[in-house]
Amino acid sequence: MDMRVRPRRLRYGEGLRKMVRETRMDASSLIYPIFVKEGSGIVEEIPTMPGQYRYSVDTMEKKLEELLDAGVFSVMFFGIPERKDEIGSGAYAADGIVQRAVAKARREFPELYLITDVCMCEYTSHGHCGVLCGHDVNNDETLNLLAKTALSHVQAGADMVAPSDMMDGRVAAIRDILDANGYVNTPIMSYAVKYASAFYGPFRDAAGSAPAFGDRKSYQMDYHNSREGIKEALLDVQEGADIIMVKPAMSYLDMVTKIKQEVHVPVAAYSVSGEYAMIKAGAKLGYIEEEKIICETAASAFRAGCDIYLTYYAQEIARYMQEGRIG
Ligand code: PBG
Repeated sequence: MDMRVRPRRLRYGEGLRKMVRETRMDASSLIYPIFVKEGSGIVEEIPTMPGQYRYSVDTMEKKLEELLDAGVFSVMFFGIPERKDEIGSGAYAADGIVQRAVAKARREFPELYLITDVCMCEYTSHGHCGVLCGHDVNNDETLNLLAKTALSHVQAGADMVAPSDMMDGRVAAIRDILDANGYVNTPIMSYAVKYASAFYGPFRDAAGSAPAFGDRKSYQMDYHNSREGIKEALLDVQEGADIIMVKPAMSYLDMVTKIKQEVHVPVAAYSVSGEYAMIKAGAKLGYIEEEKIICETAASAFRAGCDIYLTYYAQEIARYMQEGRIG
């Protein structure tokens, strides 16, 4: 056969395959999302996310230690408050659940990089991501509360804030309040390209944050749209976002690639609760091999172009990297 170019030539042997590998990953790109809940002595498994837990401030330590041991140095905090109200006051309370968890983590784990999710939906009685006017989320009134929330997280010790509410103008509002209070070097990772997605289902069970009526389609993006995602990303960069996130990851890897081409800041991809739940469920039924699927999905996110990967599998992935199974 007269064939000079044989792509298979570079596929013989693990050593050679690794040498010519196009995507390389390392654990410093991983962020682990953690749920913290009011109370004490709590380690509660989340029914729709087997292997993931809600921790109280006194029990989260063990998990944080485990993460550090595995080589995961960044965590993102989500809070589950005791009480909710119309204006989500738990989100910006100085002694709120995230504020207390972050303060403790800051004291006990100086080497850990602490990121907080900034949103109202876990704290409002109606479960929407801002304050209501009738049945609509009032964009401009919400900005002030989001800014207060971000500031309170940073004052408690957060290294970075990540607004996930999808209100227009929130990055600018947060940047302004942080700067006015002297936190000019605290980065903002914006959930800029966040779709209205059924993949958040298990998270809403975990955080008790499903909207009491309606849906989030008037603020999160329509999943038929692509150029709109670029518009969101560019706007947030203009407003001062330091990192742009695409969420979910798996069904939106086209957006990761596009956003990477359009912006000149790091791009994060969030493999959300529903992605985790599907892999867990498939593995439990014996339909797929969990470890291999974890490696393949992680590699695909980095191959698509993300620089940072948020995943409930962060600890496993870091371990697989150490063992040389991926990376
Ligand atoms: C808060 C928020 C959500 C997620 C991250 N931040 C839920 C939502 O928008 O309804 C989802 C994360 C996941 O599904 O893992 N707004």
